[in-house]
Amino acid sequence: QTLEMELESIEKGGYPHFMLKEIFEQPRSILDSMRGRLVAENTQLTMSSIREYATRFKNADRIIIVACGTSWHAGLVAEYMIEEFARIPVEVEYASEFRYRNPVIREGDIVVAISQSGETADTLAALELAKSKGALIFGVCNVVGSSIARATDAGAYTHAGPEIGVASTKAFTAQVTVLSLIAMMLAEMRGTMETSALRQMMMEMEQIPAKVEKALQLDKEIQAISEIFKDATNFIYLGRGFNFPVALEGALKLKEISYIHAEGYPAAEMKHGPIALIDENMPVVVIATKDSSYEKIVSNVQEVRARKGRVIAIVTEGDTVIPQMAEFVIEVPAAHEALMPLISVIPLQLLSYHIAVMRGCNVDQPRNLAKSVTVE
Ligand code: G6P
Repeated sequence: QTLEMELESIEKGGYPHFMLKEIFEQPRSILDSMRGRLVAENTQLTMSSIREYATRFKNADRIIIVACGTSWHAGLVAEYMIEEFARIPVEVEYASEFRYRNPVIREGDIVVAISQSGETADTLAALELAKSKGALIFGVCNVVGSSIARATDAGAYTHAGPEIGVASTKAFTAQVTVLSLIAMMLAEMRGTMETSALRQMMMEMEQIPAKVEKALQLDKEIQAISEIFKDATNFIYLGRGFNFPVALEGALKLKEISYIHAEGYPAAEMKHGPIALIDENMPVVVIATKDSSYEKIVSNVQEVRARKGRVIAIVTEGDTVIPQMAEFVIEVPAAHEALMPLISVIPLQLLSYHIAVMRGCNVDQPRNLAKSVTVE
């Protein structure tokens, strides 16, 4: 027993929980997930599995992404990236819904299964179904040799390393990293992006680990904010564009490990329902970094303020507008909007972690949840 405990504390590398260790590993796991695949200097992308199926990818009519949980959120980010860069229509499906609804799948479709564990039963069944209809199946898995990785025609691994905490953190950012490389690669193959724009994007990508490192330095600040909101019973998370999936992921993290009810919403959709929940007791986390929907999200912040909601805003360093409206402001480094999820998710992971710890929850093994769901 004592030996086991000692072993565990060694594995945690000095951190009190695996989740915190894994959050702090992200500069490294993101780098590992792009290492050898991206050389911005000579605009070079290497993903042999995509090259191998170049014709299928070039002529793809549609990409269907199937996944569950956090991996599904990474899929949503990929939808925005692939449509923007490579102009291929993308659909993102909950694997459990897709597999049971007699979906329309054609031979020109490519189905991308995203799974950290590579063992999620619904995701595996969804890809088997798509395979039987003749689609090309591509996997984005973290666990080498896992069932999903073996069932696919081709794939690209994330190199996040083992993720022990049940709530996924570094696997998510590794997935978004690999999916962004795929989006760039497809753009290159299909000629949908100028070489200069592509190179610019690749250079932006190379800077991400350092920016994530910087975002991690917000830890103390976020701990202080967590103290203020740890007894809240509800939370709303809002984001638009590339940050909309981040809002969903932030809300999921909080409910998974702190058991606080949280809802993620596209900011503009708030007025069709969640706005009714906003009063002086409602914390509203708004991801409002400088991007093409910035002006719009500023109005959304005003709508929340007008109803006395308590705004915690994630903004780009140097923003002068939102800090005048929000009660709390968390500044993250600037980045291209398509890559912002890799940075904006960091404070949300830390927020959920600290709140859960303060509430005395078992962050690494939250109640009722499993690391990989191998039954339906
Ligand atoms: C479970 C885990 C989540 C994970 C989801 C999908 O619910 O608790 O963290 O996002 O399964 O898992 P996968 O291994 O397929 O990514």
